[in-house]
Amino acid sequence: MHLVIINGPNLNLLGRREPEVYGSTSFDDFFMILQQRYPSLKLSYFQSNHEGALIDHLHEVGFIADGIILNAGAYTHTSIALADAVSAIPAPVVEVHISNVHAREKFRHHSYLSAVCKGSIVGLGLEGYRLAVEWFFGRLVG
Ligand code: DQA
Repeated sequence: MHLVIINGPNLNLLGRREPEVYGSTSFDDFFMILQQRYPSLKLSYFQSNHEGALIDHLHEVGFIADGIILNAGAYTHTSIALADAVSAIPAPVVEVHISNVHAREKFRHHSYLSAVCKGSIVGLGLEGYRLAVEWFFGRLVG
């Protein structure tokens, strides 16, 4: 099973960016632990600060991966184009947000992605990505 994690803008700064909101672990460190925990899965990771690059990557992996875990960062709240890209691909997509967007500013309460994703995991920190992997893994082993 091949799962792809895609992170959007500013998430390259995880561990350094507002640690009180996003924690102090870098995504690279977290991703290494995740790979060790699920050795039977092929896990890939892509991050970009650019909307078009995120769309290109969804197109690239969306027809070959078994699942995608997407944290589109602020594009979640603005991008119809990203939502269209999620709709355009057959791979199931799970939306993840590290922080509880519903407990934050009003502009973070709406997601263009939620309606086109299989489900959303919000506010559980980096653990949200692992729970999404676990959900895909559960589908694999039945
Ligand atoms: C985020 C929440 C977004 O509102 C914000 O713009 C981010 C990170 C999260 O993971 O909590 O960049 O997606």
